[in-house]
Amino acid sequence: MLPTLDARLAAAAELVRPGEPVADIGCDHGKLTAVLAASGRYPKVIGADLRPGPLAKAEQTLEHAGCKDRAELRLGDGLSVLTENEVGSIVLAGVSAQTTWEILEKAPWVFTARGPRIIMIPATRHDALRRWLWEHGFRFVADRPVQAAGRWYAVMAAEYTGETHEPTFAECLFGGTGVWPEGKGYADWQKAKLPRMRLGVPDGSALAAEIDAILKEGTER
Ligand SMILES: C[S@@+](CC[C@H](N)C(=O)[O-])C[C@H]1O[C@@H](n2cnc3c(N)ncnc32)[C@H](O)[C@@H]1O
Repeated sequence: MLPTLDARLAAAAELVRPGEPVADIGCDHGKLTAVLAASGRYPKVIGADLRPGPLAKAEQTLEHAGCKDRAELRLGDGLSVLTENEVGSIVLAGVSAQTTWEILEKAPWVFTARGPRIIMIPATRHDALRRWLWEHGFRFVADRPVQAAGRWYAVMAAEYTGETHEPTFAECLFGGTGVWPEGKGYADWQKAKLPRMRLGVPDGSALAAEIDAILKEGTER
């Protein structure tokens, strides 16, 4: 039986480049790997994880979905399981923002124009990951707010262009989510975290001014 994807992974699947190989890095339960493999839309589907336990779970999921022969499972750290140009899309879902960029930093071949599309669902610090992507020459293809299991997520897709951008704090906090109907709910959730974040920011700093402006705007609406 084919597994059901939550709204987060379903949105990530929609962003995979059709007709090109794809890798699901940190595949864990293997649900996304199985759905991608069963779709028949990709010439190669790779599921990979750092640990053997999750990979065994993924193998079972593929078996139950009847598509074990349509996906390859690989054990290893981040993108070390891939070779340059092997895939057109890389999914990195459910790991922290920092783990996401550390995985990318270890694979210099990602930082090339016409390199792979990186599809990410950071488990933490959406703002920090957006900043890292802009500052390292990626452009956003998508930044979609999604609610799953009572939590907000941002499903991001980015491609390397080499053109860097110094974003404002507001850009990092909300990204491109405002164009979606769910954008308001996502923005409210992001704003709710600001008073706590503000406690650790020195008064008089540029960041403090930006946070205060966003908070003020919220109370004036
Ligand atoms: C919370 S699960 C996310 C599973 C799935 N991608 C999802 O979003 O539902 C995170 C998985 O990433 C794996 N992981 C963490 N760091 C990794 C790394 N450097 N390379 C590959 N996999 C990693 C973990 O072993 C774990 O199975």
